[in-house]
Amino acid sequence: MPVVPPSPYDAIILGAGAAGLFCAGRMGQAGLKVIVLDHAAKPAEKVRISGGGRCNFTNIHTAADRFISQNPHFAKSALARYTPTDFIYLLARHGITWHEKTLGQLFCDQKSGAIIKMLLDEMEAASGELRLSTEIRCVTHADGLFTVDTSGGVLTAPKLVVATGGLSIPKMGATGLAYDIARQFGHDIIPTRPALVPFIFTGADQEDFASISGVACDVRAQAGGASFDEAMLFTHRGLSGPAILQVSSYWAPGEPVTLSLLPGTDIAEVLKAAKRDRPMQTLASALETLFSKRLAGMVQERSGNTHALRLADTSHATLEALAGALKDWKVRPAGTEGWRTAEVTAGGIDTSGLSSRSMESRHLVGLYFIGECVDVTGWLGGYNFQWAWASAAAAAEDA
Ligand code: FDA
Repeated sequence: MPVVPPSPYDAIILGAGAAGLFCAGRMGQAGLKVIVLDHAAKPAEKVRISGGGRCNFTNIHTAADRFISQNPHFAKSALARYTPTDFIYLLARHGITWHEKTLGQLFCDQKSGAIIKMLLDEMEAASGELRLSTEIRCVTHADGLFTVDTSGGVLTAPKLVVATGGLSIPKMGATGLAYDIARQFGHDIIPTRPALVPFIFTGADQEDFASISGVACDVRAQAGGASFDEAMLFTHRGLSGPAILQVSSYWAPGEPVTLSLLPGTDIAEVLKAAKRDRPMQTLASALETLFSKRLAGMVQERSGNTHALRLADTSHATLEALAGALKDWKVRPAGTEGWRTAEVTAGGIDTSGLSSRSMESRHLVGLYFIGECVDVTGWLGGYNFQWAWASAAAAAEDA
């Protein structure tokens, strides 16, 4: 019988992204010998491009209700045990400084490469190994050991952490490997869909939106029971901007999205006051006091009123109807821009098959799933990285 040499590794981590690298550092610090494998030539490419190159690495308002999951309670334990403050302390130890942009979103003062360097330094200081440009061919499990067959040889370890992310942006190397491994070991997958993604439109809506592409406006966007007050951006293909990306995660195909323009402004009152104070002003120029010139032009055209219509000749009922339409504007997206531009994947590995304390499989001891591949999807604004750090910390603590 051939003698199998003992494995030099306690854990193999698949995926050198945010969750995988962070987990490697934490496991190494706990005394485990860890190797991280990734098919990409460079580690953590999504960290690099995130936050416009400044990595929105967490959100100080992190709470489980800012994550979408079939089980809204699942993320609570991990998020409570590794918090935004914990990550901020880690940054401080590495001399990385940060600033809050808006709504609790924390960005690096340095380029996001500083976060990648920190993750790699933490991993290396804990004797973790990283193997890039390595294809994962297959994973098997027998006699308490995982065997990973790769383009660089066969590796074994008693623990396997799957951190290969979701399906968003295939051009950056996203694959469904985590879901394949999960299925192989008896896990269910909650259907995946692109999230934090712009909407596309067809017909007159698409033409109108394209005609003012680049224009932004504050809105309350509502879909699927969720509501977000943030900026919306008109694009060549439809609608984008933070408010739209946020509701896209709650939207179901075929459903309308309700837009309330200028949520903090009583548009009817502004128009009626303008009629009282400046009756000779045109409706078009009154709208320009509320919106940018191009958006005001589109609103006026869609209202069916002529450009030259003076406020003095416009009834209060007409002004109220126009304001009402802007406060309850139902648009029906033809779809989303899909995986090509989606920031994250909603759905994923069913949390009912995982321990919320440790991210370990309930089907197989030693198998862990962390980060975006799990059915936990954060809002826009640093929540998804916080989930990557927190789920990785939970797995490392257990292992
Ligand atoms: P991640 O995708 O980071 O890593 C997975 C790794 O697995 C990759 O290195 C990949 O190459 C590897 N892999 C995949 N398939 C493999 C295979 N078959 N074999 C081997 N390796 C494989 N979030 C946030 O909180 N703040 C932000 O500012 C942003 N900004 C942002 C911008 C853009 C453009 C995108 C696309 C996404 C964001 N996000 C974000 C989301 C965030 O990037 C995402 O949630 C995390 O990177 C998820 O971390 P994971 O480690 O789970 O996956």
